[in-house]
Amino acid sequence: MIHALSVASEAYPLVKTGGLADVVGALPDALAPHGVATTTLLPGYPKVLAHVGDADVVQHWPSLLGIEARLLAGTLGDHPLLVLDAPALFAREGGPYGDAQGRDWDDNWRRFAAFSKAAAEVAAGSVGERRFDLLHAHDWQAGLAPAYLRFAGGAQGVRSVATIHNMAFQGSFDAGVFPALELPPHAWGIEGVEYYGAVGLLKAGLWAADAITTVSPTYAQEIRRPEFGMGLEGLIASRGSQVTGILNGIDPAVWNPATDPLLAARYSANSLDARRANTRAVEARFGLTGDGPIFTVVSRLTWQKGMDVLAGLLDELVAMGGRLAMLGSGDAGLEQAFRDAAARHPGRIGVEIGYDEPLSHLLQGGADAILIPSRFEPCGLTQLYGLAYGCVPVVARTGGLADTVIDANLAALDAGVATGVQFDGVNPDALRNAIARAVALYRDAARWRQMQRRGMAADFSWGNSGARYAALYRELLG
Ligand code: ADP
Ligand code: GLC
Repeated sequence: MIHALSVASEAYPLVKTGGLADVVGALPDALAPHGVATTTLLPGYPKVLAHVGDADVVQHWPSLLGIEARLLAGTLGDHPLLVLDAPALFAREGGPYGDAQGRDWDDNWRRFAAFSKAAAEVAAGSVGERRFDLLHAHDWQAGLAPAYLRFAGGAQGVRSVATIHNMAFQGSFDAGVFPALELPPHAWGIEGVEYYGAVGLLKAGLWAADAITTVSPTYAQEIRRPEFGMGLEGLIASRGSQVTGILNGIDPAVWNPATDPLLAARYSANSLDARRANTRAVEARFGLTGDGPIFTVVSRLTWQKGMDVLAGLLDELVAMGGRLAMLGSGDAGLEQAFRDAAARHPGRIGVEIGYDEPLSHLLQGGADAILIPSRFEPCGLTQLYGLAYGCVPVVARTGGLADTVIDANLAALDAGVATGVQFDGVNPDALRNAIARAVALYRDAARWRQMQRRGMAADFSWGNSGARYAALYRELLG
């Protein structure tokens, strides 16, 4: 049995801003059948503390990078959970990274450096009876953990894996914070945490970890190029074969249309007519009338997601006979652009600005197609949920979107294997064409149903990917 410590700043259902949480929440179950026992370590945000209640205190740090902290032991589903309770760092209203207005906390470097230092100490076995073989660090928030391990001399053979969920978030901070990290002076350099004259938390993790993974094979290739590597392409290329892409899976306990309690009606590939009740519920909720395919968006409203390009095409989407039910939040300008479009097209475009987990399920279960025009997408989960729910994905051909959707070109349609629509280049012409293709396909009811069924039959459960992570762990542990 391998004992792994999975270190992350989010885990569904306790704290979620995006796909990272879904993946971290699902990993323990995904790895268990492959002989890996996973303990998850999370920061003690108010909701996480409320979840663990008056848990056992297994460690006390009078000063963890100058902050008093305790380690609490609880459970996440059927698996062990450790929580870093450091009120000065994490007991705040707002989000995990910033205040209610979306401004990043000034001391994020200290919050996640302390978190990573605690992670390294726990993994190295200096806390109570717990022993770990491997530390799995997710994204920049956990990036320093492999570095602390490395500078502690590889801490008794504990190996480390760093997983990149999004290269756009690198955790870069002013060089002036370096002394407060309590790393040895030689950690300041290319062989260490220095990154273009700043402290780079993700960079440190990628440099220090024994293996690097990202969340799709295509993104693993893309990040070797400047456009996607965003400054870290050289480091990635230099790690060569130690960088692999392991596709995210979806958690069937949470995302299955046959059992989903958040739907108005449950259905399967053989009972797609029952899906209509969800479509009616979406129409009611978003004030949609008439007919035509309902496109949905369930997304952070950001540049990454190509939402600016979509916002510019909404009048045309309506002119083509489409409707839109959108759920998202993010950039204020984009939020306004979608609200304005809804005001221009009552009955055809409905918009909910916000974050609403139950509504995200209803949309996948009731809309006809999900639009994902991302400029880059390390994996993407909403297209996988769309496939599983018969909500046909219309996606840019990048990252995990390229790896998981089979474009409805003529050959794929004839062979009956198409599951969605893909397009190249996130620009108005390409997206307009993709929407037009989707509208035309929708009008061919038999073809559309075949695409829905084909997507629903695709297997994006964790089976394969859980096995691949476990195999990687075994390889590292020799
Ligand atoms: P990313 O992590 O880049 O945001 P993913 O597709 O990997 O993209 O994951 C996004 C996750 O967040 C999915 O579970 C999706 O359903 C959810 N999500 C995004 N926006 C919202 C929202 N406004 N309300 C509810 N869930 C959302
Ligand atoms: C990131 C990426 C997304 C990926 C998710 C989980 O947020 O943007 O593509 O699916 O992490 O790995």
